[in-house]
Order: sequence, then structure tokens, then C-alpha cells
Amino acid sequence: MLRSVILAAARSARVERLVETAPLSREVVRRFVAGTDTSDALRVTRELADAGLAVTLDNLGEDTVTPEQAQATREEYERLLAVLAEAQLTPMAEVSVKLSALGQRFDEKLAYDHARAICVAASAAGTTVTLDMEDHTTTDSTLETLTRLREEFPATGAVLQAYLRRTEDDCRALAVAGSRVRLCKGAYKEPETVAYQSPLDVDLAYVRCMNILMSGPGYPMLATHDPRLVAIGEDRAKWFERSADSFEFQMLYGVRDVEQRRLVEQGYLVRTYVPYGTEWYGYMMRRLAERPANVALFLRALTSR
Ligand code: FDA
Repeated sequence: MLRSVILAAARSARVERLVETAPLSREVVRRFVAGTDTSDALRVTRELADAGLAVTLDNLGEDTVTPEQAQATREEYERLLAVLAEAQLTPMAEVSVKLSALGQRFDEKLAYDHARAICVAASAAGTTVTLDMEDHTTTDSTLETLTRLREEFPATGAVLQAYLRRTEDDCRALAVAGSRVRLCKGAYKEPETVAYQSPLDVDLAYVRCMNILMSGPGYPMLATHDPRLVAIGEDRAKWFERSADSFEFQMLYGVRDVEQRRLVEQGYLVRTYVPYGTEWYGYMMRRLAERPANVALFLRALTSR
């Protein structure tokens, strides 16, 4: 119930204005968001690299409505990739991209062209791009774009969401050599017709998808903070005799930091997803929807001075 309310608020411009102008919002946001510009992204990437973590950077923004915004997003990624290469933080750092930030909702070809330009920049910087997955109305379009990009840039990564009923089939299709697949539970409010609704069903689907990916020849990226799923991931790695460089765990910046470092100490490759930028509202609201304790933290900050 609370999750539905927060996810509905995530799409409300009125609530967005209220939250953005609240006194301490920004302080709470800092727990989950690296900062507003490229230099913040660079600073946090360096800190995480020093702690033995790999990184994927997300320039925050979604639901772009003008070609100018889409162009600006592409240019920010190009700038970021050049700066990361210059600082010798690639290939340890890569980027995650939302096609909606590149104009997918109003011009799919434009979004493809921008995504391709970002792949060119990533390739020049010696690193990779992973396409984030948004709500289910965009899944086909995103996977089609992925297929086209992979013809030229085979290491381009996909995200699959275990809560979607279709995802086991998508996992089978993408569990092929050289294919990088980030498996997450899914963060959007989706109808029963397309997505499992109960946490148990989502967890069971995650394990079925993980089995497909971990037993296949591709490169699985297990994106979850769920202790049971992490333990099952460790188990499957042993069962399918996967070497430490043939899969990775991924978690969000600011979530379960101690666990991220524990997994590094165990010899696993762990990648932290680091968002940065000024458009933090939609991202933050999805994080709040995932965990009631975060809502309490946020409300305390909003109401105190
Ligand atoms: P779950 O939400 O069940 O949480 C399990 C436990 O983890 C909690 O009990 C708590 O201890 C901890 N935890 C989880 N979330 C927390 C939070 N926000 N704050 C503090 N503790 C928390 N989704 C999507 O739809 N499209 C995408 O492209 C991506 N991309 C993506 C990349 C990466 C690297 C990650 C880790 C996640 C995503 N997601 C995503 C988000 C994903 O779908 C999902 O919403 C979150 O990861 C939360 O699900 P968990 O698997 O962590 O389990």
C-alpha cells in the first residue's frame, strides 16, 4: 500500500515541487546520490575504487520531453566518459543509461542515435554501457535497441526485471556468450497482468532467472541487496563453478555498504550503481518505495530544521 502511494507520488509534479523545496531534502538525498555534477561523480568513483569496488554511473534524468534535453544528457555522458578515462578509472567504471532520458518516449530513433554515441564514447574510454530498464511499456523498445547496439558493441549490457512475467524468456534469449545481463527485482508499479505482485513470487522468479543466467555462458550481474538472494547467488556460483571474473554482484550507492565491502573481501567482484545529477526525484522515490525505514528517515529530514 505504502509502496503504491510513493510510486504514484513519484509521477506527481506537485509532490515533486513540494519535496524539492523542503528544507533538508537534499541532505537525505546525499545518502543515495553522489552529488550534482561530473566532479562529484568522479570523487565518489575514486573513493569506491579505493575500497576495491567497481562502479556504474547513472546521470540522473528520465522522461525527457525535448530533443534539447536528450542532447544535453548525451553530452554529459560523453563528458563523463572522457573524464573517467583521463582519470584512469576505466574500465573499472562504466555507465548506466536510461533510454527515456535520451528521448525514447517521443523519438525512438533519436534515443538510439544518442545511445550509440554514448557507446562510441565508452568504447573510446575503454569501458561499457548498460541500458537501464524502465516500466514495462518500454521493455520491447529497450531490448530492440540493445540488440542493435550489441551488433556494434557486443559488451553493451541489459537489465532484466524479475517481477515481469516475461523475464524468464528474456533471460533465456540473453543467456548467450558475451552477453552482460543485470538481473534486478524491478522498481516500478506494474499491473498484475504483466508482473508478479507478491514479494514471494518476485523472489521465486528472481531465483529462476538467476538459475538460467548463472548456468549459461553469459556474464550475469546479480543486482540485489536481498541477503537471501545474495546467499543463493554465492551458492549458484559454486554449483556452476563460475570463476570470480565470470559474474558480479551489484548494489546501489548508499545501500548495504558493509555488505558490499564484505563481498569484496570474500573475493567477489562487486559493482556499486552511483547516480548523480540534479534530477534526483524519481530515483529517490523508488528507493523510498523499496524500504519503509527510508521513508521514516526522509520524513524526519523534511520536518526538522
Ligand atoms: P528488496 O527490496 O526486497 O530488499 C532486500 C533488503 O535489502 C531490504 O530488506 C533491505 O535490507 C535492503 N534494501 C533494499 N533496498 C533498500 C534501500 N533502498 N535502502 C536501504 N536498504 C535497502 N530497477 C529497475 O526497475 N530497473 C533498473 O534498471 C534497475 N537497476 C538497478 C541497478 C542496480 C545495480 C540495483 C542494485 C538495482 C536496480 N534496480 C532497478 C532496482 C531494483 O529493481 C530493486 O528495486 C532494488 O534493488 C530493491 O530490491 P532488492 O533486490 O534489493 O530487494
